[in-house]
Amino acid sequence: MKLHAITLGCQMSAADGSETLARLRERGWAAAESPEDADAIFLTTCSVRDHAEQRALSLIGRLREWKAKDPKRFLVVAGCVAERLGQRLAKRFPHVDLVLGSKKAGSYADLVAEAFAVRNSESPKAIRNPAGGDSVVQSLTIMRGCSCACSYCIVPSVRGPELCRPADEILAEARARLAGGARELILLGQRVNAWRDGDRDLAGLLRELDSLPGLARLRFMSPHPALCDERLFAALAGCRTACEWLHLPVQSGSDRLLGLMGRGYTRGQFLDTARRLRAAVRGVVVSTDIIVGFPSETEAEFAETLGLVSELRPATAFCFKYSGREGTPAAELADDVPAAVKEARLAAVNAVVDRHTAQALQEAVGSMVEVLAETPTFGRTRTGFKARWKSPVAAGRLAPLRVTAATRRTLLGDIHEPHDP
Ligand code: SAH
Ligand code: SF4
Ligand code: F3S
Repeated sequence: MKLHAITLGCQMSAADGSETLARLRERGWAAAESPEDADAIFLTTCSVRDHAEQRALSLIGRLREWKAKDPKRFLVVAGCVAERLGQRLAKRFPHVDLVLGSKKAGSYADLVAEAFAVRNSESPKAIRNPAGGDSVVQSLTIMRGCSCACSYCIVPSVRGPELCRPADEILAEARARLAGGARELILLGQRVNAWRDGDRDLAGLLRELDSLPGLARLRFMSPHPALCDERLFAALAGCRTACEWLHLPVQSGSDRLLGLMGRGYTRGQFLDTARRLRAAVRGVVVSTDIIVGFPSETEAEFAETLGLVSELRPATAFCFKYSGREGTPAAELADDVPAAVKEARLAAVNAVVDRHTAQALQEAVGSMVEVLAETPTFGRTRTGFKARWKSPVAAGRLAPLRVTAATRRTLLGDIHEPHDP
């Protein structure tokens, strides 16, 4: 049985897809390179904005043809759209064999194997292959769900309340991933710094992971700005593997909007957090998320967001037009910022962000940076920038790169003598 996984949405969604594939490989399934080559397709979907949901629905529609070529083919739609629409999805798309909402993400593989076996009256095969992804950089989900109540956000309703994985399970999985070739781990959670296991917190977990043999780099995302404290910053600064990079989503620069969004911090508190982070972790690079056109956002309030971006100087930022999501508290407010105004604000904030990105890349030109080779000629710096070079290096190695130039998003340079840590 050959499975092709397609993932839409956030890193958590991508991690669900690759974990499901890895678990099914343990049961004797193989990975198919393309849909044409596959007996089954496993699609994880995203519902965070209407645009993401429409993309998923149109892809599901297009897969009707794939299914029609051989009725024995098996189409599974999982993830956040599956959770939100449930059986409505199965009704609208009769060619979908199985709908698995994201609250079942922990047992996707079992449910797929069971349903496939029932349908084809084949019993699951014995374990053949060892678990796994084989990439140098791997995501590791340390908590599921979200117990925050940001007023615009669908995630708490489609993913359910926060559930932390136990530390011992995380450490065991990290060891297994490292044994399988991973060199960098990205710990994932919607509010990853809310992770707890008894009296262990994320700072403690970073320190425990830091000593694992074979680990070159450690990142985590996304921390909630209101839960960032000196303990976390000290762990970032003190751990050998923890990278000088933090994704700190701000959403807006206006206190009134931050209040309406239910973010739990003010503009001043956010900027103070960023300032303390930079004081504690030398050379740290931050990125952020911004929403423009939230209900009732005025031109002056949007200008405060632009001002905040200029003060924060993020190296990158993901900027989105507000999209009302059914059932969220913000959907009760009139979505009164006209589409053209949202579009113009998005373009304006992206222009400011692009200037900071260009500046951050230019500042790196002429310096030596450490890259982790993800392929022989591509990798990332500790600060999260993409980098390319010409003379090949074995994937998985750390190497010093002399940066000679930068494109719009990527550093270019030459490798000097590969070395290991
Ligand atoms: N848990 C993560 C992010 C979850 S969604 C965090 O809190 O950082 C990723 C990003 O999508 C959010 O940071 C936000 O900027 C954006 N987003 C979420 N809901 C949205 C909506 N309804 N409209 C527009 N953007 C939204
Ligand atoms: Fe959504 Fe807020 Fe939770 Fe992030 S922290 S997933 S934005 S509710
Ligand atoms: Fe992620 Fe989208 Fe679900 S952002 S949690 S896949 S709604």
